[in-house]
Amino acid sequence: MQNDIQEVLITEEEIQKKIKELGAQLSKVYEGRNPLVICVLKGAFIFMADLVKNMTVPLELDFMAVSSYGTQTKSSGVVKIIKDLDASVEGRDVLIVEDIIDSGLTLSHLIELLKSRNAKSTCVVTLFDKPARRTVNLEADYTGFSLPDAFVVGYGLDYAERYRNLPYIGILKPEVYSH
Ligand code: PRP
Ligand code: MN
Ligand code: MG
Repeated sequence: MQNDIQEVLITEEEIQKKIKELGAQLSKVYEGRNPLVICVLKGAFIFMADLVKNMTVPLELDFMAVSSYGTQTKSSGVVKIIKDLDASVEGRDVLIVEDIIDSGLTLSHLIELLKSRNAKSTCVVTLFDKPARRTVNLEADYTGFSLPDAFVVGYGLDYAERYRNLPYIGILKPEVYSH
């Protein structure tokens, strides 16, 4: 698996240091608010786990799986719910946890959905961002790292469902995806 990586872009240590900072920051923001912290599966699962270990306030967790693209290409812009939340978001302070924002379509649809369900507030924390790829006007409230528009994997990010378990962010060798 490591052999498929051309270059490590962000090390495990850098990631963990950033998550400690984000956790401390969000602990202040959500003090006394009992937030519902939502993990957007699958990519955000590792970040979610590491982030909440660094949050020192009472909170609840829930999980949602969405696919922005259905079976179509990335431009379809339709978010399909594969697994919905267990909890009601009505009147809740919701913190959405994402691994990466690319076009912004997934999150813009998700935020609209949670607002239509009467969430009290919605806030987004993403560990990674690819601002150059944005097609809709959407910014996270809290961002760990900005990434170049390269083929990155690891720390939750997959290529064809693989490499999510790498503890760092790496650039995939072109020969891996260009067969
Ligand atoms: C990836 C990533 C984000 C989304 C970002 O998820 O984890 O959820 O794409 O792209 P966008 O800003 O263009 O919508 P993906 O749909 O690949 O599913 P996964 O998390 O299961 O890998
Ligand atoms: Mn995802
Ligand atoms: Mg993916």
